[in-house]
Amino acid sequence: MPERRLELNTPRLTMRPIIPADAVALFETLGDPHVMRFSVAGAHQSVADTAGWIEHGIRHQSAHGFAMYAVLRRCDGDIVGQCGLEVLADGRTEIGYRLRRDQWGRGYAAEAAKAWLDYGFSTLRLSRIVAMIEPGNRRSIRVAEKIGMQAGASETFHGIPVIAYFAEAPATPDGARSAIRTE
Ligand SMILES: CC(C)(COP(=O)(O)OP(=O)(O)OC[C@H]1O[C@@H](n2cnc3c(N)ncnc32)[C@H](O)[C@@H]1OP(=O)(O)O)[C@@H](O)C(=O)NCCC(=O)NCCS
Repeated sequence: MPERRLELNTPRLTMRPIIPADAVALFETLGDPHVMRFSVAGAHQSVADTAGWIEHGIRHQSAHGFAMYAVLRRCDGDIVGQCGLEVLADGRTEIGYRLRRDQWGRGYAAEAAKAWLDYGFSTLRLSRIVAMIEPGNRRSIRVAEKIGMQAGASETFHGIPVIAYFAEAPATPDGARSAIRTE
């Protein structure tokens, strides 16, 4: 699949594809048990785990033209977490976001995730984007709500009870869905 746009910008953030050199910086987020409390695989134990996660992301980018991207503050280039879209095993496309703990509470997650939703619908032409969120993950639920996602069905995801939040492509004026892809 051809490379699509390689950078997403918001007022305060830049998101770009992850590269192997990001492993140490992203381990600060992905190696933090508090950040990873609601992640099925748990916290990364070493920078090598994060390097493996990055390799997976690079393969995903090649296969689909999008992936989980690094989130950088525009003011100083600091990598503050990751956000993006990923195709699940069942074909649905999930939005994901994780920030370094010292960056929580600034609205960055909603800012980043909203940009991905817009990009997913307007450029990637997805019809539906989901987010599998554990009921106890109140911050994540609030982020999903803030970007306009709705609570869908309760289901089991990797053995864990979750609520499948979802957003759908905006309808066109004649009422038809504008999206042409159905992941
Ligand atoms: C989820 C996460 C990215 C949110 O980051 P953040 O910087 O706090 O997000 P935002 O500032 O954009 O918004 C958080 C919202 O949750 C609200 N919130 C914070 N703690 C809350 C709580 N305990 N209960 C309910 N809402 C809460 C905040 O007030 C804010 O809403 P507001 O803007 O209406 O006030 C961050 O907490 C994180 O990395 N968590 C670990 C990874 C994770 O769980 N990812 C999602 C997996 S589904």
